[in-house]
Amino acid sequence: MKRYSGLLISAIFISILLISCGGDKPEMFKAGSIAEDEMDPEVWGKLFPLQYESWSKTKDPKPTGKSMYKKGWDKDKVVYDKLSEFPFLGLLFNGWGFGIEYNEPRGHHYAIIDQLEIDPSRVGPGGVCLACKSPLHKSMTEKHGMKYLTAKFNDALSMFPEKMKLVGPACADCHKPSDMSLRTNKLHLENGLKLIGKTEFTRQEQRTLACAQCHITYYVPRNTEKKVAGDVALPWTGGSWGNISIENIVKDLLTDTKRIEWKQNVTGFDMPFVRHPEFEMFTKSSVHFNAGVSCADCHMPYQRVGAYKVSNHDVTSPIKQDFASCNQCHTESADWLRKQVFTIQERTLSLMTRAGYANATAAKLFEIVHQNQAKGVKVDQNLYAKAKESYMEAFIRLNFVSAENSTGFHNSTEASRILGDSLAFAGKSETLLRQAITQAGIKLPEKINLDLKTYLNGRGKHKLNFKADQEFKDPYGTQDYFTPKEVKGL
Ligand code: HEC
Ligand code: HEC
Ligand code: HEC
Ligand code: HEC
Repeated sequence: MKRYSGLLISAIFISILLISCGGDKPEMFKAGSIAEDEMDPEVWGKLFPLQYESWSKTKDPKPTGKSMYKKGWDKDKVVYDKLSEFPFLGLLFNGWGFGIEYNEPRGHHYAIIDQLEIDPSRVGPGGVCLACKSPLHKSMTEKHGMKYLTAKFNDALSMFPEKMKLVGPACADCHKPSDMSLRTNKLHLENGLKLIGKTEFTRQEQRTLACAQCHITYYVPRNTEKKVAGDVALPWTGGSWGNISIENIVKDLLTDTKRIEWKQNVTGFDMPFVRHPEFEMFTKSSVHFNAGVSCADCHMPYQRVGAYKVSNHDVTSPIKQDFASCNQCHTESADWLRKQVFTIQERTLSLMTRAGYANATAAKLFEIVHQNQAKGVKVDQNLYAKAKESYMEAFIRLNFVSAENSTGFHNSTEASRILGDSLAFAGKSETLLRQAITQAGIKLPEKINLDLKTYLNGRGKHKLNFKADQEFKDPYGTQDYFTPKEVKGL
């Protein structure tokens, strides 16, 4: 109770801050002097130099040695390879760009720069890849339609004015120039919100939606040849505000071939894909969402700059900012908060390795089945179909939690629930496959070799290899029982 009243007092304190911050605005802001269609942050920056300066800091590397599981691009300037961190993803994503090069995120400044630097397979779809990167995406889509969306990535970029080619998330994405209130600038989000029937937003909700423009999962609609067939869309059918569940997302993604984006090499299956579902995970009844906290509360805290209170636009991990944002509400020490966050992340990670290797094992069993079918062995089709259905359920759930960028923190109990289900579905798939294989008279070893080396070494244009020092092993060591070294094949 004592802590809760502390939080309450903090909330009042924040409100006062917000009001007093509003009071600073007139001094800094000349209404109407930014054109409605102005996209260039430098122009906005002339009126709002302090926000511009902090926004520009997303370019700077962040302190090393603070975050455990989100070492984006810190002062050590190491790029962290998600496929080395989670080796099972190398096997599971093999078949397209995500299985070649898949890095931990870094600051907003690099949104488009990273697209140019990463293996070209990752921007294969073309102009549509700019949806979550450029403030021009909406106007270009409205103006040029499919010509822009399906243009080769570099051709789409060359349709931009020179100065805007490398500009990532910008002022115009989040602010209305007439009064600097919050807005969004993405057609896919407008459509997604319609799909879940949400039309009115509180200020706190807007402070979350500013981020939901990009930190959501989406699919790139495809025709039957897997060629781009439209702007990105959100698999939110059946969801509602605060309840876009994984169950509904799975159902949506498996409705038709429009949502099928790639072929998984190991199984040969046509698959959908999940990207960075921070918004969906956070808003699904997390402790903080239910307490009315927004993304900006933790990722854009107020900081004092001279006489002003300014929202910190250098959006990054709160751990790399020494929990400054948490202190608005929590009276506990940074050490306490760090321990809570790391404990949540370790537990999530442990379960993620369990579900990840179970998925990889099921995938390898499908490979064995297919190899035998090619030799003419008959396999029970009923068992096979059930195993495949169960595998899809397992894969999308693992894909969801591993693509979510907080390693569980945004909603730890939900992350565990989803991973537990992924593990159960993968186990079911394995059981059914083993039954089908045994019935077909094929002998199986007790442990299925995953041969991860073959998936992780020599990847793509940059010939990327597995980096052992980046691997996130199960913090509790339990995974070694299920997948000992020789089984992993690393
Ligand atoms: C990803 C979204 C996002 C981007 C990009 C962004 N802002 Fe903001 N900005 C916010 C949010 C959220 C707030 C808090 C607003 C609130 O609570 O009403 C804010 C607040 C502000 C304020 C009000 C005073 C303050 O500091 O709280 C100004 C002025 C401002 N931003 C200017 C800019 C400028 C200039 C740029 C570009 C250089 C920019 N913003 C880019 C999300 C963004
Ligand atoms: C227009 C799209 C867009 C918007 C809007 C946006 N982001 Fe991002 N965000 C990205 C992309 C893209 C990256 C990855 C950039 C890279 O790695 O090159 C990213 C990276 C990040 C990171 C990692 C930064 C680091 O230092 O590693 C955080 C944290 C983050 N975003 C939080 C937010 C929050 C909070 C908001 C809302 C206030 C927000 N983002 C709004 C697209 C967006
Ligand atoms: C209660 C505080 C809190 C809220 C609310 C919150 N986050 Fe986070 N977020 C964190 C913490 C803590 C991490 C873990 C950072 C780490 O491990 O270094 C994190 C991690 C992230 C990352 C990865 C950071 C990186 O460095 O790669 C992104 C992206 C992100 N959050 C976006 C969002 C978005 C979008 C929302 C709203 C939908 C949101 N967060 C809501 C606290 C919060
Ligand atoms: C705007 C207020 C606010 C901010 C900012 C905030 N929290 Fe919280 N936090 C709450 C409330 C309210 C609760 C639930 C009440 C309680 O039990 O204290 C909570 C609960 C928690 C819990 C326990 C529940 C859980 O998720 O395990 C942890 C841990 C936590 N917060 C960590 C953080 C960290 C770390 C940050 C900063 C990155 C942060 N919080 C920022 C308000 C906030």
